[in-house]
Amino acid sequence: MEKKSELYAGKAKSVYNTDEADKLILQFRDDTSAFDGEKIEQLARKGMVNNKFNAFIMQKLEEAGVPTHFERLLSDTESVVKKLEMLPVECVVRNIAAGSIVRRLGVEEGIDLDPPTFEFFLKDDARHDPMINEYHIRTFGWATEAEIEQMKALTFRVNEVLKALFCDAGLLLVDYKLEYGRFEGRIILGDEFTPDGCRLWDAQTRDKLDKDRFRQGIGGVVEAYEAVARRLGVSLD
Ligand code: C5P
Repeated sequence: MEKKSELYAGKAKSVYNTDEADKLILQFRDDTSAFDGEKIEQLARKGMVNNKFNAFIMQKLEEAGVPTHFERLLSDTESVVKKLEMLPVECVVRNIAAGSIVRRLGVEEGIDLDPPTFEFFLKDDARHDPMINEYHIRTFGWATEAEIEQMKALTFRVNEVLKALFCDAGLLLVDYKLEYGRFEGRIILGDEFTPDGCRLWDAQTRDKLDKDRFRQGIGGVVEAYEAVARRLGVSLD
């Protein structure tokens, strides 16, 4: 496969066109950003760890019947994915209260959320990704009714699959963000699933093993990602 022009550069990943019209190359960089790009640092090995972590999770999700854009690993930091027409919304499920829900609703960090909550956010850095609801999505045409239902169903299916996967590795899946796109008339999981876009706590100690270590300046960010990967059996060689 031939890597062509850069299609898009995000805060932590770059996307390239390829010689195949319906395939892209996703490159995971070492850049790490928080607070809508206000805090940015390079963390050695993070691109490699996230690329392999994402490949492992996407394959587990495919096996469980969740359609994803992931095709194959291309190199240590690159993967081949299907080219989707991305929907401009983020889907967040929370099993335990942390992050913005604590700030917004004044609930205590660490309490179980049963049933888990589901929230939509608009992908719009300049407006700090505001929370939106299904009416906004329909009114502004960001997705159809059927697509909204598919995103919710798939995002909760991901919760079932990954809660169990992380639980077996002694980890709590606190929350996570997913993004979807259209491919040949259906909705498919796009973007990534890595510790950059979810919260993972050690089940015993409740140590944070995700990007909150970067956001909160705790340190040992990539080391924590690698520890999670090892516990899941992700090969980082
Ligand atoms: O900040 P908040 O608590 O709303 O984030 C919920 C989850 O979504 C967290 O796991 C966070 O890492 C993820 N997220 C993300 N990208 C965003 C916003 C949130 O990956 N733009």
